[in-house]
Amino acid sequence: MRQEIRNYLHYLMDLGEEEVFLDQPPMDEGADALMGDRLQTMESLRREAEGCRRCPLGGTRTNSVFGIGNPHAELMFIGEAPGREEDLKGEPFVGAAGQLLDRILKAMGLRRDEVYIANLLKCRPPGNRDPQHEEIEACWHFLERQVETVHPRVICTLGSYSASALLGIHAPLSRLRGRVHAFRGIDVVPTYHPAALLRNPAWKRPTWEDMQRILSLLERSIPG
Ligand code: URA
Repeated sequence: MRQEIRNYLHYLMDLGEEEVFLDQPPMDEGADALMGDRLQTMESLRREAEGCRRCPLGGTRTNSVFGIGNPHAELMFIGEAPGREEDLKGEPFVGAAGQLLDRILKAMGLRRDEVYIANLLKCRPPGNRDPQHEEIEACWHFLERQVETVHPRVICTLGSYSASALLGIHAPLSRLRGRVHAFRGIDVVPTYHPAALLRNPAWKRPTWEDMQRILSLLERSIPG
């Protein structure tokens, strides 16, 4: 909850607020209620994920890794599953792949707390193995509710598992990326997983093309 309050304060600062009055009614009660609703929905989903035993991963994880960021974000990233560091910290993309994601965000002129970041699976598969079909099915409703709650303008899927799950197309990433898809009316831009970029730096260029595509969908300028 503390992280979400911090994100909310950053969000208010982004909107140009210089002071936050804790003991006064908000100026725009409608917008504030909406933000409060989204935070509350996320918090209750996070608690549900913490106690989830729908698949065996609930019994082997250290922490569930629900998601992080601005519940009003225009851009949402969806990765695959927590790794060792994420499992220990309870936060998505904090390991080496996460540091690369932060650098990609910076190159886009964005901060981590301006976007929303989630994974297809909320619990770490032992030994970082690939997600299994039953695990994706068992965890799907959490991601569905996260997407519904944030309702971003653009979703960027990282790696083939989240792209295939969201788009319902089982094809190699090389066939999915390079164009804009849709999930329930939201633009979806599939790209390479940052961990794959660490192994194969040649994919950094096509990934940057995907990020430029996202910036143009968001009508944001591309940092020079
Ligand atoms: N890889 C992912 O897909 N998600 C994480 O949170 C970390 C690494």
